[in-house]
This record gives sequence, structure tokens and C-alpha cells, in this order.
Amino acid sequence: MAYHEGVRVAEPPATGTAEPADDLLERQRQRESSARSYPRRLPIALVEASGSTVRDRQGRTYIDCLAGAGTLALGHHHPVVVQALRDVLDDGTPLTTLDLPTPVRDRFVTQLFEVLPQPLRDGRILFCGPTGADAVEAAVKLARTVTGRSGVVAFGGAYHGMTQGTLALTGRKAVKEPLGSLLPDVHHLPFPTAFRSPFGLDNGSVDGAAMAGRLVEWALTDDLSGITTPAALVAEPVQGEGGVQPMPAAFAATVRRATRAAGTVLVADEVQTGLGRTGDLWASQAIGLDPDVLVLSKAIGGGLPLAVVVYRGELDGWQPGSHAGTFRGQTLALAAGAATIREVVRAGLAQRAREAGRRLTEGLATVAADDPRVGQVRGRGLMAGAELVDPGVVDADGVPVPDGWLAGKVQGEMLRRGVIVEVGGTHDAVVRFLPPLVITDEEIDQVVDAFGAALHAVHAERDEEGAR
Ligand SMILES: Cc1ncc(COP(=O)(O)O)c(C=O)c1O
Repeated sequence: MAYHEGVRVAEPPATGTAEPADDLLERQRQRESSARSYPRRLPIALVEASGSTVRDRQGRTYIDCLAGAGTLALGHHHPVVVQALRDVLDDGTPLTTLDLPTPVRDRFVTQLFEVLPQPLRDGRILFCGPTGADAVEAAVKLARTVTGRSGVVAFGGAYHGMTQGTLALTGRKAVKEPLGSLLPDVHHLPFPTAFRSPFGLDNGSVDGAAMAGRLVEWALTDDLSGITTPAALVAEPVQGEGGVQPMPAAFAATVRRATRAAGTVLVADEVQTGLGRTGDLWASQAIGLDPDVLVLSKAIGGGLPLAVVVYRGELDGWQPGSHAGTFRGQTLALAAGAATIREVVRAGLAQRAREAGRRLTEGLATVAADDPRVGQVRGRGLMAGAELVDPGVVDADGVPVPDGWLAGKVQGEMLRRGVIVEVGGTHDAVVRFLPPLVITDEEIDQVVDAFGAALHAVHAERDEEGAR
């Protein structure tokens, strides 16, 4: 068992989870970089997928609560996406055009603008490189360009990507520490977490959110705060990789007020939350964050790589060519993305995510009620998490410490039971659920059952070890 700062952490790779090694996995292990991550904890090689399920080479089927880290809003191979891709291949539209317009690109922009919150609907769109990190980088560049300032404020627990700029904004220290200096002039403030309040207050208390809000106001507007007035404040409306931490609406209101007072560009990173996942089309709109800039990727490409930055028209201070790149809107991704946006709206999938998310968190909470190792179940819509704890060890505030070891074990046991989940949060102790928005009630119940059974199995295994 591995320990870090007195807390049990997952041992990579989680042992005992895999069936006999697959030769694809073995060749991957030999040829791909040691930076590869998911196959270590989820040692499966996939050959087929449909809806919310994937099938591996041994013919086993899994419910996919990872879904490309929350990318696949419509699940795998949704007919509208498949048809949109076929149409492009059949009609001969060029697949790559840098940023030259095509009818496919035009339709994507029209489709996205139709569903954006005001005032972004009347704003501008920038196509950047196709990943979420590319889009966050572009948003920060835009804010710096238009304000003439350099500082950026981000939050503890944030995840914005793995480039050297976005890593500077990211919370997790372990991935930053080996690199030395990153983007300069970045400052982190505490996020009002719903568990383990950075202020040692009751979990999820209104006071915790109010205190975090006061710190934002102080940092941005007090002339002695020591932080030169920032160009941008970048925030996730629900922190995902940070362990599923929803931003309280009252805090969002304070952030909006403070950034407005400071002339700081408010950037909402909706790479993971965007397009219905949290039970609303846009998570930032639901909590009244009202951003100046919206960063989008994952779901808006319908499973293909696509990222954009949408912003208020008055911020359009770029010089021609000042943000370029080869893959600024790839045709297949634009077609898949437009079809996905249309279908999410047509089928009311944001509302469906809200209902399905309620069923999921209620199910997880039922498991938690009988098991003190589940410290908290939380989330919005189909972005849910269960933080696992070691009930026998409490921190200075009397809160049980996170148990990343247990979360790793549960992830492995769930895989054995045909459910793929992610882990994240502090010490990777949060089991995360990000299924496609089309997941059925029956599949949700299977996920909940697998979670309960996995916890039970780890308990039984530990008892056996203890008896030896
Ligand atoms: C909120 C958020 N921002 C940015 C990113 C980075 O996206 P990408 O991995 O496509 O660079 C992610 C990825 O998970 C994310 O969740």
C-alpha cells in the first residue's frame, strides 16, 4: 500500500484488475511512451462501441462511464453523427481547409450560435487547435491582448490542460513540479469545495463559499492584495478532474462582480461541462456566471477533435493571424459537432442528464448511507462523483482523509463487473461518473450496483488479508 503525506494513494497500476494481458496492451506497453495513463488502470483493448457501451477484444461489454473523459454526449456511433460523417465523405467537401470557409463550417457556427447564451450569441468565435488546452491557451492570449495585462487568476483544484500554459493554471502540483517555471504571473485562489473546505468550515457551508468569494474580491480589487490586476480569471463551473466540485451560484455572482469591477476578463472553461452534461446546456449560465469568454471542446466535436473560444464581440482585439494553427476546425469534426449539438437540443438531453444524474447520485447515496468509506456523493447532472475516505483516520478538522488506494481498487473491481469509471480529485480518491447523456435508467442501476459490489469486494479482500 502506498502512502503520500500520510494518506493512502492508488498504486499504479492497480493490480488484480486485468484479465490475462492482451497482446495489443502488451505491444502498447512496449512501444508507447511511459506517459500513457488510462491503460494502466483500465487494461482493456477496445474493438467496438455503441451507445453507452464498449466491447473489448475478449468480447466483454462495459458500460462506459468515462466516454472519452466526458466527450461523447451522444454515446458511441450515434446514428446522427455517423450520418453526418458519411454525408461529408460523400459530398466531397475538403477535409482540411485551415480557416477557409466551407458550408460545413458555416453550418456548425450557425448551429452553435443558435444555442449559446446571450450575449455570446452576438459575439465572435475563434477556432483554435483541436484540444481543450489549445482553447484555454487561446482564451488567455485573447484576455492578455485586449487588456494589455499579464496576470491570470485560477483556482485550486482546477484542470485546464497539459500544455505549459494551461498547466500553470492547473491545480495538481505533481504534474507541474518536475517542470520548473511555467506561464508566469498566474495566481491560485481557493475554490469553495463541497467537502474539505479550505477554510476548515462545515462541508459545503454557505460560509465557505462566501469566504472564498471575499478572497476573490480582495485579490482583484484591494490595492494591497499584491496581485497586479489580472487580465483573466479562468474557472470551471463544475470542477471535473478536481474531483467533481460544483461552483455555488452565490460564489459565481461574486466572481462576476469582482471581475467586472477589476476589468478582468472572465473565462468559463466549459470543456467538460458544456452541451448538457450538468443538466443544463451551459453550466456557467445555470449558476449565473455570465462569462465574457466561453471555452468549448470535447462534446462540441461529436467525438472528433474540435475546440473553440466564443467571446463577447467587444473583446475581438486580435490582429489578423495573431492566433493561427493548421487544424482550426476540421471538416469531419465540424459536421459531427453540428449534428451533436442539434441532437442534444432536439432530444432534450440536458434535461435527461438532470434526471439521469439524479437517479445516479441517489443510487450512489444509498450505497454511501451504509458505508462510511463513501465520504460524499456530489455532482451536477451526469457529472457525478463519490469521494472515498478512510473513516479510521481524520484530519485536523475531523474530516476523514481521502482514500486514493480504495478508489483505485474500486475502479478495478468495477471494471471486472463491466463498468468503466474514472478517478480524480484530491489523491485521486473520487470515483467519477461521466457517462454519455443517452445512458438508460437500467444502465444507471447497473452502474450503481457495480459500485456497491466493488466496495463490498474490496472490503472482503481486506478482511481476508487481515485474517492471514
Ligand atoms: C475543464 C477542462 N479544461 C481543459 C481540458 C483540457 O482538454 P484537452 O485534454 O482536450 O487538452 C480538460 C480536459 O479534461 C478539462 O476537463
